[in-house]
Amino acid sequence: MELFPTAKPNLARVKNYQPGKPIEELEREYGVHNVIKMASNENALGASPKALAAVRKALKNIHRYPDGGCFYLRKRLADFLGVDPGNLVFGNGSDELLVFVVRALVGRGDEVILADPTFLIYEIATQVENGKLVKVPVRNFQYDLEGMKDKISPKTKLIFIANPDNPVGTYIPQERLLKFLKAVPREIVVVLDEAYYEFAKENSDYPDSLEFLGLFPNLVVTRTFSKAYGLSGLRVGYAVADEKLVNTLNKVREPFNVNLLAQVAALAALDDKAHLKKTLQAVRSGRNYLYRELSRLKLEIVKTATNFALVDLGRDAKNVYETLLKAGVIVRPMGAWGLKSFIRVTIGKKQENERFIRALKKALMQN
Ligand SMILES: Cc1ncc(COP(=O)(O)O)c(C=O)c1O
Repeated sequence: MELFPTAKPNLARVKNYQPGKPIEELEREYGVHNVIKMASNENALGASPKALAAVRKALKNIHRYPDGGCFYLRKRLADFLGVDPGNLVFGNGSDELLVFVVRALVGRGDEVILADPTFLIYEIATQVENGKLVKVPVRNFQYDLEGMKDKISPKTKLIFIANPDNPVGTYIPQERLLKFLKAVPREIVVVLDEAYYEFAKENSDYPDSLEFLGLFPNLVVTRTFSKAYGLSGLRVGYAVADEKLVNTLNKVREPFNVNLLAQVAALAALDDKAHLKKTLQAVRSGRNYLYRELSRLKLEIVKTATNFALVDLGRDAKNVYETLLKAGVIVRPMGAWGLKSFIRVTIGKKQENERFIRALKKALMQN
């Protein structure tokens, strides 16, 4: 698509993020009902009832601007994490925080090291700022940290590590990550994107990254309320970092970037331990079910520490994806990540996982 003639020339290189179609549109287009969305790694159980109640209560205040400092959420989250309130920055989803880091640090020609494949926002944000992408392919679906270290140059400004990674789903254990962080010069910022933290931390060797913060003033840890806490639609995430990095990010943050409903919902969701526990249980058992059923179908599934899984269908996944759509099951084909035979499926509720497997069996016969 053509850009406005005076647009910054580098914008021509920026990939457009392809949003999925609304469920209602798909139902209309394909003539199907009861569509299930297993494509965006949301919480299949929905939001915490406590968060919903808090949102209802706060609706009467939406003629007011939100609290630009996220006062109550900041205080509660700092307590919860055992960090200083001054070490937190909130974002309109953790997406926005990732963009802030790039906006604040990366200029023309600066190098950003990232895995391939990884979360698309890193690439988009870097291209918007006219930075240079330095991609390091994953090996066997694991980060090649040695390879990333070797790519460090005097122009490197930033390194993105999604732990666990999306779309791959695997994580870097504590010891390997620590060794890597020690090897990175302290003037290069490392973003540790922990969007799937709550799921991954069930593994005993998953890093306790907040412990690293004291050691590495160049580290930014980002997390979100979109996944395990079920608040994707409200958009709220946070970054934890050293004060100087927090101040840096705040320079590029709009004053009211986290909306009023998101703030009260996040606060309430943090207190709903039962809902989180239920969510983690559902993901654990759904994951085991999918492992079992997919291996019965002789399909390769990448062992995941998240609420989604990457599955190799051993054929062009686009066609299978289309057939699944017609059966009312939305998954994500991975062609855009260069993984043409793969789909990514979000772990759903029990009945959803079962329906996905039934639909997949049929789709594989047709494709
Ligand atoms: C690795 C990773 N990071 C960050 C995000 C952003 O999530 P949000 O902006 O909803 O916090 C996602 C969402 O899919 C993700 O997969």
